[in-house]
Amino acid sequence: NEIKIFCPATIANLSCGFDVLGLCLETAGDEMIIRKSIVKGVRITKIVGADLPLETEKNVAGVAALAMLDNVATPFGFEIEIYKNIKAGSGIGSSAASSAGAVFGINELLGRPFTREELVLFAMQGEKLASGNAHADNVAPALLGGFVLVRSSNPLDLIKIESPPELYATVVHPQIELKTSDARSVLKQNVSLKSAITQWGNVGGLIAGLYIKDYELIGRSLHDEIIEPVRSVLIPGFDLIKKAALENGALGSGISGSGPSIFALSKGKETAEKIGVAMSEVYENMNLPYEIHVSKVN
Ligand code: HSE
Repeated sequence: NEIKIFCPATIANLSCGFDVLGLCLETAGDEMIIRKSIVKGVRITKIVGADLPLETEKNVAGVAALAMLDNVATPFGFEIEIYKNIKAGSGIGSSAASSAGAVFGINELLGRPFTREELVLFAMQGEKLASGNAHADNVAPALLGGFVLVRSSNPLDLIKIESPPELYATVVHPQIELKTSDARSVLKQNVSLKSAITQWGNVGGLIAGLYIKDYELIGRSLHDEIIEPVRSVLIPGFDLIKKAALENGALGSGISGSGPSIFALSKGKETAEKIGVAMSEVYENMNLPYEIHVSKVN
């Protein structure tokens, strides 16, 4: 009658894949306890670690859960306790972790009436509340694990991408908050054909590199000339962090989701940790508080 779950953080976009690529971090995330209650509906009874609304309709977990319960009849309701470790506006899928966690947990308590893809659709409603846009590139990897391609979000078409065994992610979160809605509002609505060609070449290259386990190709493909130049100016020390990552062996580096977190992918745990140290030094020198996560990708 009760379930305790881990709600993983995620890196969306992965440079070239704005709104279509994301990956799940194994070692960073929130926890959630969901229990059945005799009172019908959904109640958020406790939030620890963040100042977020308890009202069901104003909370992303609540909204995702309600979207789900609209599609199934239950004789009971649910109480949700959220223990946040992922800060809101960090760029590693804080709202997605809560949205995905709520629908995953309730689905388990109901005996799994919904598929993972259906859960992604419900969780996207939480994302819509958080950022004004029902993007799936955080909730899909949070629910499916690993690397996920959102080939289309309407109709939803998700492809779980194989990735090489030694692929690691390092993420640094400078402790400032950047709202996804704000980071989306600065984007240009048009893209030149020349940039589009570069970008889809890189998306194809990245996917191919992951499948054929070609780390060099993965690295060559981790570029973004559309979103990164516009958003990176909002992130303190972005150029220095990226440079430190690349100088210390990263395959590639860029903005995690809508920022301000910055990610690097690398081959092997040792390199990923070395990159973490180099990133720390940059923010130590700038006197800026930060958090580092190192995680295996699959
Ligand atoms: N694809 C989304 C964006 C991810 O970049 O706005 C937000 O985490």
